[in-house]
Amino acid sequence: MSQTDIATIDDVQHLLAGQDYVCGRALATVSFLALKLGRPLFLEGEAGTGKTEIAKAIAAALGRRLIRLQCYEGLDASSAVYEWNFAAQMVAIRAAEATENTDREALRADLFGPDYLIERPLLQAMRPQDGGAPVLLIDEIDRTDEPFEAFLLEALSDFQVTIPELGTIKAPEAPIVILTSNRTREVHDALKRRCLYHWVDYPDFRRETEILRARVPEAAETLSREIVAFVQRLRTEDLFKKPGVAETIDWAKCLLALDVISLSPEVIADTLGAILKYQDDIARLQGSEARKILDEARKTLAPT
Ligand SMILES: Nc1ncnc2c1ncn2[C@@H]1O[C@H](COP(=O)(O)OP(=O)(O)O)[C@@H](O)[C@H]1O
Ligand SMILES: [Mg+2]
Repeated sequence: MSQTDIATIDDVQHLLAGQDYVCGRALATVSFLALKLGRPLFLEGEAGTGKTEIAKAIAAALGRRLIRLQCYEGLDASSAVYEWNFAAQMVAIRAAEATENTDREALRADLFGPDYLIERPLLQAMRPQDGGAPVLLIDEIDRTDEPFEAFLLEALSDFQVTIPELGTIKAPEAPIVILTSNRTREVHDALKRRCLYHWVDYPDFRRETEILRARVPEAAETLSREIVAFVQRLRTEDLFKKPGVAETIDWAKCLLALDVISLSPEVIADTLGAILKYQDDIARLQGSEARKILDEARKTLAPT
């Protein structure tokens, strides 16, 4: 399927379902619009809610290359766009020094030519690709700083870079851009304004069981429902770090590996490390608390 075959919001949902990605109506709508209008998609939300995954799913579904720029503190333009392979340049210079009659001009041109250019994600995303424009995932942008944001804003507005030694490189077709943020800080308005925005929330019970069905099909329906009910209930607790969908999936896999058929306070206590990653949160569920939450979770499950 190609981008032009996407005529409706339903098409987006089907396309993503084909990649085992369960997409709610609101997220499908904003994704549809981003694809149709060629606008970057800005996804913000808690960790483990499927932001990175949807970029992978869109790329796979459209048969596009996925290019990921993982953001981190201190990420600068050269690591994001291109660098010269300094070590290789030095080796070439040494080799040239060892030979007589080196053509210095030719060497210079060669040293700052394609052979010594290291293309980083933003430059890669501007290169033509088989199968169409790539999906450019700018992941966890909240980890970078404001100067880099400003730089990105610029890059996203014209999809071209100028390399002094090589000239200007322009994308033949704008990539499909998806930015994510775990909101450890606010991302600047100017950048958000360029994009279509969506807050990716934790899925509700129905959608999360659907996700489990897609991702852990070996789990029995009754166990899946218990797992999801428990995790959903757990998210209402005042935790330092609430479990995301990734944790629900991990937990289900752990329980399957242990041949668990139904949740019990003992099983929960033994496997809590799959859903809670902070000792303070785990400590909260010691004693009778896990049983209490399990009982309440079970009450929300209508008899099947
Ligand atoms: N809607 C969904 N459909 C299918 N799987 C999902 C969905 N949301 C999350 N997941 C699962 O949860 C995992 C974590 O999601 P991820 O995209 O890495 O979270 P985020 O980037 O929001 O922190 C994914 O690997 C995927 O298996
Ligand atoms: Mg992510």
